[in-house]
Amino acid sequence: MRTQQAQAPRYVVNGGTVLDGRVRVSGAKNEVLAAMCAALLTDEDVILENVPDISDVASLGELLTAVGAEVERLESGRLRINGGGVNLFEAPTELITENRASFQVMGPLLARHGLAASAPPGGDVIGQRPIDVHLEGFQAMGATITRESGRYVVRRTGGQRLVGTRLFMDYPSVSGTQNVMMAAVLAEGQTTIVNAATEPEVQELARLLNLMGANVSGIGTQVLTIEGVERLHGATARVMPDRIEAGTWAVAAVITGGDVVIEDAPWPVMDAMINKLRATGGTVEEQDGSLRVTGNGPLRPLSFQALPYPGLATDLHAPLATLLTQANGISVVHERVFDNRMLYVGELRKLGAEIVSTASSAIISGPTPLHGAHVRALDVRAGAAVLLAALVAKGHTVIDEIHHLDRGYERLDEKLRGLGVEIERT
Ligand code: UD1
Repeated sequence: MRTQQAQAPRYVVNGGTVLDGRVRVSGAKNEVLAAMCAALLTDEDVILENVPDISDVASLGELLTAVGAEVERLESGRLRINGGGVNLFEAPTELITENRASFQVMGPLLARHGLAASAPPGGDVIGQRPIDVHLEGFQAMGATITRESGRYVVRRTGGQRLVGTRLFMDYPSVSGTQNVMMAAVLAEGQTTIVNAATEPEVQELARLLNLMGANVSGIGTQVLTIEGVERLHGATARVMPDRIEAGTWAVAAVITGGDVVIEDAPWPVMDAMINKLRATGGTVEEQDGSLRVTGNGPLRPLSFQALPYPGLATDLHAPLATLLTQANGISVVHERVFDNRMLYVGELRKLGAEIVSTASSAIISGPTPLHGAHVRALDVRAGAAVLLAALVAKGHTVIDEIHHLDRGYERLDEKLRGLGVEIERT
């Protein structure tokens, strides 16, 4: 999958199709990546089901293999990971910089082996993305942290295990909570994380850890309590469907005035998005575990803020902004999570959108007829935003740098074609 980037593929979309049909949501990127790291906490097999075929999974798999784990794709979207052979406690720099989630090998390596080293993680350039919350958590549990040749080296000092403690997170960081929780499950005694992230993917990781023999309580609240255990064992778990992908399909249905059944949409964790889609005039109905989303008639403008869960997900900010370019009036958008989420604005303007923005807010005037142009997918969700715009743009839109889309969306062009869209990957 990594070769796709080298060959620089692009999407060419011919806009104007009204989407119609059914589409199935793949497994959640932000859960599966953390779950893959959690497998390093035991030397027994961890089997994950509903694993999406996305490049972030492939590159994290390479990283896990590089540190000595076995990573094997099984049939039917399953992935087997065995961390019994881990013998390198340092994440190779070229792999750690591919995505943000890779840094979550640190907690498991530290907890089990007492040593973990890594360069600062990569991922989308959507803000400063510090890792202080992760490091402060490790430190609070008795680890020392040094910077050696640009890498963070985290060492357990004293006994055989980290030591449970009560810690406050300055920010309810998603990957920070996941990383510290994974370190705490094997610590001696109790760890309390106050101001923990409550995102569904954090909750699912906690449930997986419990299946592996951990004792995490307070799941879904901002206070997690973790009673450390001496060892974890293998487990099999199904990755939840991706709420961001589901939200992207919902926007695609409404913006094209279409009628789409989104199978496997995790609607109980999509309240904020469903609420905003209805506010614009879209129809969203739950049907036997699926969401049927239809767009009918003129769209209303709205204001929204992207917030930590259960607020509107920052990953759906850019897709929703695209929808508002077609709403009848002025919409105001505020980003409250990342400080550089507005990369999509310039690209949407190339397609004809009327948007002005600051570092964290955008004002969108609509409806503007969009027209095909040559644009770039500047990060995974900015890529989704331009793709959605291309669906309603007149003529052909060429989207470059789609390796960003490959990081988070499985078989995107194939799924779009299934709904009637004229799209080619060239
Ligand atoms: C994860 C998701 C990403 C999603 C984001 C917010 C993964 C792989 N990615 O990213 O798709 O958009 O959650 O839902 O799961 N922060 C600090 N200190 C830290 C860590 C973060 O101040 O140590 C700040 C960041 O600067 C940012 C905010 O916290 O402003 C949110 O970041 P965080 O929740 O950590 O997001 P990620 O885990 O990187």
